[in-house]
Amino acid sequence: MSEPVRVLFVCLGNICRSPMADALLRHKLSEKGLAGAFEVDSCGTGAWHRGEPPDPRTQDTLRAHGVPVVGRARQVSADDFERFDAILAMDRSNLAKLKRMAPQEHAHKIALALEPTTGGEVPDPYYGDGDGFERVYRLLDDALDRWIGRWTS
Ligand code: 4NP
Repeated sequence: MSEPVRVLFVCLGNICRSPMADALLRHKLSEKGLAGAFEVDSCGTGAWHRGEPPDPRTQDTLRAHGVPVVGRARQVSADDFERFDAILAMDRSNLAKLKRMAPQEHAHKIALALEPTTGGEVPDPYYGDGDGFERVYRLLDDALDRWIGRWTS
């Protein structure tokens, strides 16, 4: 069997956006019978929420769409640049932090999560109302379909 495609989503706290992307990609892959061909994880550039489950608003949004909630927050580590094939940042600030941290030979793995669709940022919903989480879901839903298309074509 060939090596899985390893995908890491990165946001700031690893409790709102990147765990949503992580759970949603796993769900999409499993519905397509592709779960075994991928390894999916998420992390934050910050460490404040280490060990915590996803924000209750991320959990509610995922459940409302029938997507199982996964994971506990962790901070990005130096090993991640070696281990993962695609390192997808939720916004330009986290993209820039990752690019600063990454050894040069792994820098090409880093991109914005919305690069295949809007090319823009997934807005941080943490300090806003619940609607922000649904917006995050919709942005990720479209972009993840496009990423899956690229990885499987
Ligand atoms: P996330 O959202 O980066 O999408 O997980 C945030 C979560 C927590 C904080 C900021 C953003 N915080 O400042 O604690």
